[in-house]
Amino acid sequence: MKRFLLALAFIMPSAVFAAGYSGPLDKAEIDLTDNASLQRGAQIFMNYCMGCHNAQYQRYQRTFNDIGIPLELGEEYMQFTGEAVGDHMYSAIDTEAAGEWFGIAPPDLTMVARVRGADWLYTFFRSFYVDQARPFGVNNEVFSNVGMPWVLEELQGTPRKTWERRMVDGEMKDVYVGIRSDGNGRLSSEEFDQAMLDLTNFLVYMGEPMQLERKRLGYFVIGFLIVLLLWTIFLKKEYWRDIK
Ligand code: HEC
Repeated sequence: MKRFLLALAFIMPSAVFAAGYSGPLDKAEIDLTDNASLQRGAQIFMNYCMGCHNAQYQRYQRTFNDIGIPLELGEEYMQFTGEAVGDHMYSAIDTEAAGEWFGIAPPDLTMVARVRGADWLYTFFRSFYVDQARPFGVNNEVFSNVGMPWVLEELQGTPRKTWERRMVDGEMKDVYVGIRSDGNGRLSSEEFDQAMLDLTNFLVYMGEPMQLERKRLGYFVIGFLIVLLLWTIFLKKEYWRDIK
């Protein structure tokens, strides 16, 4: 028992540290078969994220094909770094230099959804808030002291932690009601949530592009097995007819 407790004491701090944020996450109801959503997500990703982040394990061509964007359109409107459509998705920024500017290099995002999970990403994107004490003037509730500037303020508006005066147990109190935008963005708060869902959807797709194909293939295989089953049942009947 003693040894067990001792082992636990060693394991606990690292487990707590690895977990990082332990608060509630919002459920990201993504749909990998929704091409329109994936296309909107890709557009946000290529416009707003690839200025800093790579997706170096993913090729443009594969992306365009998988989510139903004609290659010529993709090349013309979604590629900004002058690469060929068959190239991997590299940011125009030099990762090492970016590391110096931001204090930490922007990580590659190809697999980020597999590491963090869809709910974490969806909540993270909606958890930036103004914090003048930070170098970029923003902080994040899910990723405390994040070294990333809030690049979607133009869409969301300025996000602030908000308190409302409410009656609690017969007393007026300031109750924390979450992060609210000043409303000075291009999108309403519902539209912004939808855009973040689209972005999350795209990142999940990118983490495992085979997922869509695997599911399609899965239906085909099950269909094939059912046909085969019927066929063998008839065949068995046919064989046994003479023997009985
Ligand atoms: C101006 C450069 C810049 C832009 C543009 C940018 N990021 Fe970042 N991002 C960073 C840096 C730097 C970090 C590392 C922050 C840290 O670890 O503290 C980061 C971290 C992240 C992380 C956390 C990764 C992890 O698992 O630790 C995610 C997710 C992310 N960015 C997504 C995005 C998305 C999506 C966009 C586009 C909407 C975007 N970023 C645009 C610089 C940028």
